[in-house]
Amino acid sequence: MKRIIILYYTQSGQLKDIVDSILKPFKVDENIEIVYEKITPELPYPFPWKILSFFDSFPESVSNIPCKIEPLKFDSNQRFDLIIFAYQIWYLNPSIPSISALYEQKFQFIVKNTPVITVIGCRNMWILAQEKVKNLIYNAGGKLVGNIVLIDRSPNLIGIVTIVYWLIFGKKNRFLGIFPKPGVSKKDIDNCQIFGETILNDFKYNDFSQLQNKLINQKAVKISSGLLIFEQRISRIFKIWAKFILKSGNAGDKKRIPKLYFFIVYLILAIIILAPVSTIISAIYLLFRKNSTKKDVEYYSNVFLNFKKNN
Ligand SMILES: Cc1cc2nc3c(=O)[nH]c(=O)nc-3n(C[C@H](O)[C@H](O)[C@H](O)COP(=O)(O)O)c2cc1C
Repeated sequence: MKRIIILYYTQSGQLKDIVDSILKPFKVDENIEIVYEKITPELPYPFPWKILSFFDSFPESVSNIPCKIEPLKFDSNQRFDLIIFAYQIWYLNPSIPSISALYEQKFQFIVKNTPVITVIGCRNMWILAQEKVKNLIYNAGGKLVGNIVLIDRSPNLIGIVTIVYWLIFGKKNRFLGIFPKPGVSKKDIDNCQIFGETILNDFKYNDFSQLQNKLINQKAVKISSGLLIFEQRISRIFKIWAKFILKSGNAGDKKRIPKLYFFIVYLILAIIILAPVSTIISAIYLLFRKNSTKKDVEYYSNVFLNFKKNN
């Protein structure tokens, strides 16, 4: 009997639907045991979100400060043949509950010498978060062998409007009846089954050496170079804001509310004014840095870790 553990967190259930679709081909095999472990924060994050708590999670997300989570229940005395770690992005970083699980001793123990596949369900900016997850997995002695990313395919600015509507009102339907549905489309979720078939094949032969190349060919990961440059730029600014807000206290501290309002105003202005300007700058930048950007896209699509890039 081979064993797989699925470690995941989800608020709306979207990520669980994605994982279930990937695992469909596995469920017909009686020689594979699948263990689900849902990450549960001791103090749940609200869904739908209240506006202030949505922004209050920003500094801790960006600084990768973990929250307390309920003890993980899986039996760590037994070996797992594969770990699937499914997480979403909060403010360009692994969501707080997800990264908290990676810091847990129990996870650090089972990940040693074990292949890991990451599954991301987010809006569209995940690249730098995945570098952090890669680092944590490799540092704990695990081996990342695959990465599947599902995004919202709407244009960036439209996606911002629809996701805010979804997260604040909790409805995954068309905002005002005219906007596209928020989040990952049902068609893309259903299509994940083909990634599952590819994983199952390599899992049976215990050879994951070509898995990510196969997944890339199946378009399990697609990187837009424009968004990559945009993300790298925003990430630097987010770190400065996070440090500034953290100086006024920890999550839930009333003292940091004025700074949070200041940040909200900045974010709105940045989306309206800076985002379009930045898109033009990125396009010009891309014209001159075609080769290095191509290399970056290749690197970030893959699962190996370039220590130089991360230090
Ligand atoms: C506080 C917060 C911040 C988010 N920031 C990002 C982000 O920076 N990049 C991104 O692609 N998606 C972002 N998202 C969207 C999530 O990655 C995810 O798609 C959505 O929350 C649904 O996930 P669920 O499976 O937990 O329901 C954010 C969501 C939340 C709640």
